[in-house]
Amino acid sequence: MRGYVDCLHKKNSLMVFTLDKVVPWGRSFDEYVSMFSLSDTDLNKYILGCGDGPASFNAELTRKGGNIVSIDPIYQFTADEIKEQIEVTYDLVIEQTRTNHDEFVWKHIKTVENLGRIRINAMNQFLEDYPNSEARYVAAELPTLPFDNSRFGIALCSHFLFLYSEQFSSEFHIQSIKELCRVASEVRIFPLLELGARKSRCLSKVIEQLNAAGHECIVEKVAYEFQKGGNEMLCVKASNNYI
Ligand SMILES: C[S@@+](CC[C@H](N)C(=O)[O-])C[C@H]1O[C@@H](n2cnc3c(N)ncnc32)[C@H](O)[C@@H]1O
Repeated sequence: MRGYVDCLHKKNSLMVFTLDKVVPWGRSFDEYVSMFSLSDTDLNKYILGCGDGPASFNAELTRKGGNIVSIDPIYQFTADEIKEQIEVTYDLVIEQTRTNHDEFVWKHIKTVENLGRIRINAMNQFLEDYPNSEARYVAAELPTLPFDNSRFGIALCSHFLFLYSEQFSSEFHIQSIKELCRVASEVRIFPLLELGARKSRCLSKVIEQLNAAGHECIVEKVAYEFQKGGNEMLCVKASNNYI
């Protein structure tokens, strides 16, 4: 899915974020539950969704009575601006998925058209919820988060860390996950593949450095698999030394 690469503009360590380069693409509540093996106990915790973009997890969980804050650099833009960008890029993403059909497992999502419907439904729920929910959608970006220590029970990061291992260094990943461990007791990241459906080139170094910093890393199999071989999450139990 090469097209997703274009959504991120990196300039030294400073991110220059322009919406015309973003390819907004959001997953649903059910997908988050399955990607992160979320139990009812997990869903009752105070959750940080990191890089949630136009996913509907925040909107749907809130409707179910959950407690969540999402962060993403795209939240500096208005709902109309994000909607326009979804409309501009939607056909391109669907076309690329068709071209790279063999990189995916068409089991739960059966066809490209079915995928399009699921994603549009998720993004529409986000667009409805977003305008009047400023406290739940915070414009921020890793590797720095605007939250106090241990604020969240669990932090989730779907399809950002590890997926863009070609664009973001191991150091960026280590710094970002340490920051997530500072604000949450537990961090879960999915998938552990980078674009092209290969295991992330950063993964082993990241795990080694996080273990050395006192955090406990476990790679766990999950029920979700859409990118072929993408059925594992990294679960990090944070040490409370904030190193
Ligand atoms: C492929 S999308 C995934 C969206 C959502 N998590 C999902 O799974 O449906 C990647 C998201 O990462 C966000 N992102 C880019 N740079 C980021 C950063 N430095 N910190 C946090 N999120 C970032 C993008 O804006 C985009 O919304």
